[in-house]
Amino acid sequence: MKKLWKIAALVLSLVLVVGCFAACGSSDDVDEPDAGAEATSEAGTTEAAESDRLADGVLTVGTNATFPPFEYLGDDGTPDGFDIALIKLIGEKIGVEVEVVDMEFDSLCASVGNRIDVAIAGMTVDPEREKTVDFSDNYYKAIQNVLVAADNTEITDMSSLAGKTIGVQLGTTGDKVATEAVENAEVKQYTSYSLAVEDLKNGNVDAVIIDQTPGEIFAGQNTEELKLLGAENFDFEDEYYAIACPEGDTALVARINAALSEIQSSGEFDMLVDEYIGNN
Ligand code: ARG
Repeated sequence: MKKLWKIAALVLSLVLVVGCFAACGSSDDVDEPDAGAEATSEAGTTEAAESDRLADGVLTVGTNATFPPFEYLGDDGTPDGFDIALIKLIGEKIGVEVEVVDMEFDSLCASVGNRIDVAIAGMTVDPEREKTVDFSDNYYKAIQNVLVAADNTEITDMSSLAGKTIGVQLGTTGDKVATEAVENAEVKQYTSYSLAVEDLKNGNVDAVIIDQTPGEIFAGQNTEELKLLGAENFDFEDEYYAIACPEGDTALVARINAALSEIQSSGEFDMLVDEYIGNN
């Protein structure tokens, strides 16, 4: 009997020693989340990286609040919109506070995993972006449209865009399409779509290539001056919005996906669509 107790005591102390080592290891990671995430890649990596990232109880979210109805500045000057409501709900499900940082769209992906934890910005899943971030599940289907002056009869399809001056937001898929798919276009890149739309109204660009839902909002705000051409006559492909997460942080992606699917199956997602997007 005594011997058994001795063995039990030995096992217990071994467990304590090993436990202490493990704890010391993870507290190092807390000081340097990025270094920690890489250094622990042999053992339980993403688990450790993910818990470090949310350890302070805050999910820091980057957006670019110039893209209604997905994100815009509300009356109080802080970011609001479908994406903002969605990520706050996701934060609620995960049990963390959500802090939104408004920044340039073009710097969002590079900031994921350092300045911000994730980015939500009507951001299309794109192979180029997937080189530096991991995306959550898709939450919205989109496609590019073309905004032109209400009295424009010349631009009707892809080939009639050739050689035209096209406004886009810098670094967007609209930018990519205008640059790569339209022949000889002069592409003017703006820091926001509202600036591109202003220049379209001033006659400084011939067209703006923009995602359909925001395109409908801008056209709706300027019915006298602008009209929106649907995707039918242009070679645009379907796009899917998702949340950009730090590369390799599979645990964080899994938690976001679980929250997203809960929000979708509970009907809360459709309520947000009704509230922020509706039928336009
Ligand atoms: N869907 C397009 C893209 O991913 C445009 C997104 C622009 N978003 C914004 N918040 N300004 O490139």
